[in-house]
Amino acid sequence: MSSTQVSSTPVQVAAPSNTLTTSIGRKVFMAITGFLLFGWLVGHMIGNLQIFLGQDKLNAYALTLKHLASVIWIVRIVMLAVISIHVFYGITLWLRNRASRPVKYVKEATVQATLASRTMIWTGLGLFLFIVYHLLHYTFIVTNPQYADLHDSLGRHDVYSMVILGFQNYLISIVYIVAMFCLSYHLSHALASFLQTLGWNKTEVQPLIKKIGYTVATLMFLGFSSIPIAVLLGIVTLPGGGH
Ligand code: HEM
Repeated sequence: MSSTQVSSTPVQVAAPSNTLTTSIGRKVFMAITGFLLFGWLVGHMIGNLQIFLGQDKLNAYALTLKHLASVIWIVRIVMLAVISIHVFYGITLWLRNRASRPVKYVKEATVQATLASRTMIWTGLGLFLFIVYHLLHYTFIVTNPQYADLHDSLGRHDVYSMVILGFQNYLISIVYIVAMFCLSYHLSHALASFLQTLGWNKTEVQPLIKKIGYTVATLMFLGFSSIPIAVLLGIVTLPGGGH
């Protein structure tokens, strides 16, 4: 008689996993959408830095964007979807991680989980609130409706004066600088997280990736914050030197 025993236990066939619902699937979506948001932000920062080239350059740039209305609307719709996916999966991943860790660690600080990585949800939500305020401030011009009537000598919307008038208010500038800090803190961990999700974060390159992450985050902070700081210091002034 053969000693081979055939198990009567039914073979467990793994249920086909939906990429969208697995943890790794969500992380891949977070990585892709985060990368697209970062790309958009670099473009936005470079566009905004034209304020240092003067009123004519910034207003011409804003008008060019206005003339590209159909392209801009496609970008807006895509970015809205991208932000929604990033925020939605960010919150669900965070909730899932919390649920799978019912007992609080005795010692919170671990070697790998930096403060930046553990506060991604809070810096992310802070940024989301900032974006809502920022859109009401400069895009829909709801918080300061007087900005809508600003026009330069060529009849263009005077985005240059609008930004300066906005940042001449200390409270507004502080809100922006705090938001830029949240952004850079969020970004300082984002690169490592992005590469880890894609499996490119090998131990030997981790210190280098960390350094690149911090450098990129610092550059973004300096680039964006330089604008309110320059306005507050009177380096960038209203046309005619008004401050
Ligand atoms: C000093 C920093 C910043 C300045 C001076 C600035 C300036 C502006 C201005 C003037 C507009 C309106 C453009 C127009 O309608 O003509 C705008 C739009 C926008 N900004 Fe910023 N921005 C800054 C930082 C940020 C940051 C950090 C984010 C995201 C985290 C952001 C996200 C957006 C978005 C989503 C829009 C709407 C774009 C659109 O209407 O297509 N901005 N910004």
